[in-house]
Amino acid sequence: MKKQKVGFIGAGKVGTALAARLSKGGYPVIAVASTGSPSAQKLADLVPGCQVFGSAQGVVGNAEHIFITTPDDFISKVASELTWHPGQNVVHCSGAASIDILEPAERSGARVGSFHPCQAFASVDQAIENLPGSTFAIEAQTPLLDILKDMASSIECDWIVLKPGNKALYHAAAVFVSNYSVALLKVATDLFQNFDVPTAQATKVLMPLIQGNLNNMRNIGLPNCLTGPIARGDVSTIQKHIYALQEKEPALLKLYAELGLKTVPIALAKGTIDETVSETLENLLKTATDVGKIKAV
Ligand SMILES: NC(=O)c1ccc[n+]([C@@H]2O[C@H](COP(=O)([O-])OP(=O)(O)OC[C@H]3O[C@@H](n4cnc5c(N)ncnc54)[C@H](OP(=O)(O)O)[C@@H]3O)[C@@H](O)[C@H]2O)c1
Repeated sequence: MKKQKVGFIGAGKVGTALAARLSKGGYPVIAVASTGSPSAQKLADLVPGCQVFGSAQGVVGNAEHIFITTPDDFISKVASELTWHPGQNVVHCSGAASIDILEPAERSGARVGSFHPCQAFASVDQAIENLPGSTFAIEAQTPLLDILKDMASSIECDWIVLKPGNKALYHAAAVFVSNYSVALLKVATDLFQNFDVPTAQATKVLMPLIQGNLNNMRNIGLPNCLTGPIARGDVSTIQKHIYALQEKEPALLKLYAELGLKTVPIALAKGTIDETVSETLENLLKTATDVGKIKAV
């Protein structure tokens, strides 16, 4: 497959990481434009042969395959303000938005797609490092679909193909494991404040637990990676948690119980609890979702 000339509009974490990796993977990344801050020059410094343009239209005029890697809110504005050429590829990297936000480019005859790395990027350096091994969720028609698959492979990434309408649910799934695991870390470290362990130290205490779980999830998979009191069918321990939370942190009871109710079927599928224990645990957790119904012993 002939590798098309690639350009980037937006030179933040994703744009820079993708440009640097695609260039290493053999794609000619030849053009970049941003809002005028030094970010575009920083991207160009990492990519041999890449020219900084003062306007996004300069990128569109020179590249055959253009990534719009601006924040989500600007993608459709950028797409509608530029003059696209028939046959060009125009691709965004948003997780939640579908390809329909590129409709102005499609109307001009461009092929449109989305190419979302299922990965969390907190900085440019970390994004460049973490990209290989990630999976891209691709939404596009052939022949752009095949080009995006080839791009993913060229940077040592995997891909899945999403149908129109799948994007929001796909992104909600990613938010559950990415952002909400951060929220759960915050919940847990806040609980440590009850026994005067500061956040940084609490994070250090919990990190090996998180890492061990990650290893189990990766190496053993669902449902057998589940450990802990629900997997053991340890009803009295769950009861103790509920009483302790009710006394010290009643606002967390509902969350604890809802997550517990999602955990019981995993233990059942693992085969370490039977239907009777599953039902006992579910009844206990359902009662706990109604704050006030639980009586401390
Ligand atoms: N961060 C993640 O973890 C992650 C993961 C997967 C997908 N994504 C997606 O990747 C895309 C980019 O996200 P990001 O995290 O890389 O964002 P980012 O780091 O904030 O970078 C955005 C870039 O866009 C530039 N920009 C803003 N408005 C522009 C405009 N009107 N014209 C041209 N350039 C403009 C910014 O310019 P300046 O540098 O001048 O400010 C910056 O270089 C988004 O669609 C996002 O949903 C992000």
